[in-house]
Amino acid sequence: MSDRHDLAEFDFHGKALDTIFDDYETMHESKPVGHSSKYGGFWYISKSDDIFNAEQDPDTWAVGPSMLLPSFGTSMPLIPIDIDPPAHAGFRKLLLPMFTPMAINKLEPGMHTTAEQLAGEVQTAFQQNDVVDVSAAFARPYPTIIFSRLAGYPEADWPMFDQWIDDIIYERTKSPEKAEAAGDDLIAYVQRLIADMRNGGSGHGIMGELLDAQVDGRPLTDDELISYGYLLFLAGLDTTAWAIRSSLWYLAGNKEAQQLLRKESDRIPDAAEEFLRTLSPVQAMARTCKQDTTVSGQEIKAGERVVLVFGAGNRDPEVYEKPNDIDITRENNRHLAFGGGIHRCLGSNLGRKELVISLEHFLATIPEFELAEDAPWHGVGSLRIRLTGGN
Ligand code: HEM
Repeated sequence: MSDRHDLAEFDFHGKALDTIFDDYETMHESKPVGHSSKYGGFWYISKSDDIFNAEQDPDTWAVGPSMLLPSFGTSMPLIPIDIDPPAHAGFRKLLLPMFTPMAINKLEPGMHTTAEQLAGEVQTAFQQNDVVDVSAAFARPYPTIIFSRLAGYPEADWPMFDQWIDDIIYERTKSPEKAEAAGDDLIAYVQRLIADMRNGGSGHGIMGELLDAQVDGRPLTDDELISYGYLLFLAGLDTTAWAIRSSLWYLAGNKEAQQLLRKESDRIPDAAEEFLRTLSPVQAMARTCKQDTTVSGQEIKAGERVVLVFGAGNRDPEVYEKPNDIDITRENNRHLAFGGGIHRCLGSNLGRKELVISLEHFLATIPEFELAEDAPWHGVGSLRIRLTGGN
């Protein structure tokens, strides 16, 4: 069959996301493993089983020098995402108690209050405006506020976080200097925060816990603390904002789905899983091949860069019936949106809960809505909607 898209330049950032689902179909039909010349060259792996297997085999697939391709505004390895065994386990272990289901359940009352408040603000905005950008008013502030609370960052500081994230994540392919400048600001912010916590002894939240933590019987160095702080910013905010925004994007175009979820809100968790599967906020993450190997018949040599395309695995026709259909009633929906293996997302309990709670309050507060103008499904850019007058 003809390549609808030239996979020799396969990309998973920015404008490339407009047509990425077509790329995935081509991969699944004819080229499950292939080479792209982007970002210094990498092999992509698209089949769900191949990705799961790679996730289980860190001896062959290292995360160093970085899982992030291209880098996220800094060349320092980010803890724990860019750390390979044996050091990885000790660094990850320090974060585990803060992300257990029980720890996240404790945040739930505050998560409801904040979602209700932001949905109320969107409702008020509709009293004065026909069109409201619910990305700016709802999808972005919600996870940023919840995360700031959890991490121990002053909540008043959160509006500047989103600008750094835009520059680091979304400008890095177009303007690496801008991403680096934002990265430097973010590092300076975390440095100040650590110094304040040390001086005042009032450390709290994740950063407070890390300040008192030990790895291999010693306290963390300042560089390690900064690396944790940097990674958590980038892992915890934009991903969840993207998940909320893309779910609202889908619902804006599907009034029956809105009606069903308003009437039967206990279906929202299944719908959320389907949005995560089909519109995954993290479409792909990089690895480095450590020893010559073969994947789906393709030889890959030690030292070559590889990208695990979670978004493609999530649309693998060998795993999912009608993989490209967004079926909000789909059950037993095991997917790769949170990765897998030793680096599986630590914030999955939190991200899931934020997505479900935010959708519950949005749908309970805002009557039937639709897109006011075309908007891409991806990213955290504006999402302007208007009310239809229906329920
Ligand atoms: C819907 C929201 C989210 C999605 C889709 C997501 C997705 C991911 C993915 C794909 C990975 C890489 C996994 C791998 O390569 O196997 C990851 C790692 C990680 N995520 Fe998330 N994430 C989300 C929310 C969060 C939140 C809210 C936090 C924390 C506040 C967080 C913290 C982390 C950390 C610390 C890692 C690195 C784990 C390690 O290397 O051991 N994530 N996430």
